[in-house]
Amino acid sequence: MDVVRSISEMQVMRNAVEGQKCSIGFVPTMGTLHEGHLSLIRSARDECDKLIVSIFVNPMQFDREDDLAAYPQQLETDIDIVKKEKVDVVFAPCKEEIYPEGFCTRVELKKLTENLCGKRRPGHFEGVATIITKLFNIVKPDRAYLGQKDYQQYIIIKRLVQDLNMGIDIKLLPTVRDKDGLALSSRNRHLSAEERIKARCLYEALLKAKSLVRDNQREVEKIKSEMEGIILHVRDAKIDYISIVDSDTLIEKTEVSGDTIAAVAVWIGSTRLIDNIVIDT
Ligand code: PAF
Repeated sequence: MDVVRSISEMQVMRNAVEGQKCSIGFVPTMGTLHEGHLSLIRSARDECDKLIVSIFVNPMQFDREDDLAAYPQQLETDIDIVKKEKVDVVFAPCKEEIYPEGFCTRVELKKLTENLCGKRRPGHFEGVATIITKLFNIVKPDRAYLGQKDYQQYIIIKRLVQDLNMGIDIKLLPTVRDKDGLALSSRNRHLSAEERIKARCLYEALLKAKSLVRDNQREVEKIKSEMEGIILHVRDAKIDYISIVDSDTLIEKTEVSGDTIAAVAVWIGSTRLIDNIVIDT
């Protein structure tokens, strides 16, 4: 497995297989890899001839300095983890390599960034779209693999690829959960043992929404109020948002019918967690 730190070396490697009948799979990550990332890596490994994983904590997508400073990083451990997964190349550039002096481009998407995390974290998706555009231009993958936990990110990246004719197949894989349902996230390691138990409330609230819809409750306000009840019952849990949106447009619904996602962002102490599930199709 090659570990590549410079863009030019990554491009040389990528261009060496240009023209060969060889599909390139790509898993972009910010490191601190867990089973969620591994499920993306394993699917990409199964479906592609060559597999590239990027590890880069992208400062542009953090809306708070303290969040960036606290974001866990463990490059050497991550490299050991991916070695076992038969990854061909790990692309792990430093900040200066990606954003050299004078860098001033931003990739901005309208509409899809107006709700959910886009509303709560100004500039976040501009940062995601900018780094993803750069990574896709450098790696030139045939397929890229993303997880359902970051559903809005998936929708935005799919749109970006379509709007800018990048010709990359974007694959969405299910959220990987702990036994009690908590979605795996690098941020979970910030939770104390007590907070970890409290964090179950996100998935519990989402499951409640799904069961209400199954029982034919269609009124969004009623569903949201039940979800709110579950989360607010937990001491130190603060709701950032509860949203019920169309799965394609991410526009808020008032009635559940057809493709619908319930999504939550909740502060457990000083850690902000997100999760979502499909509640109607
Ligand atoms: O989901 C993530 O880890 C990041 O947002 C991504 C897609 C790697 C872009 O920095």
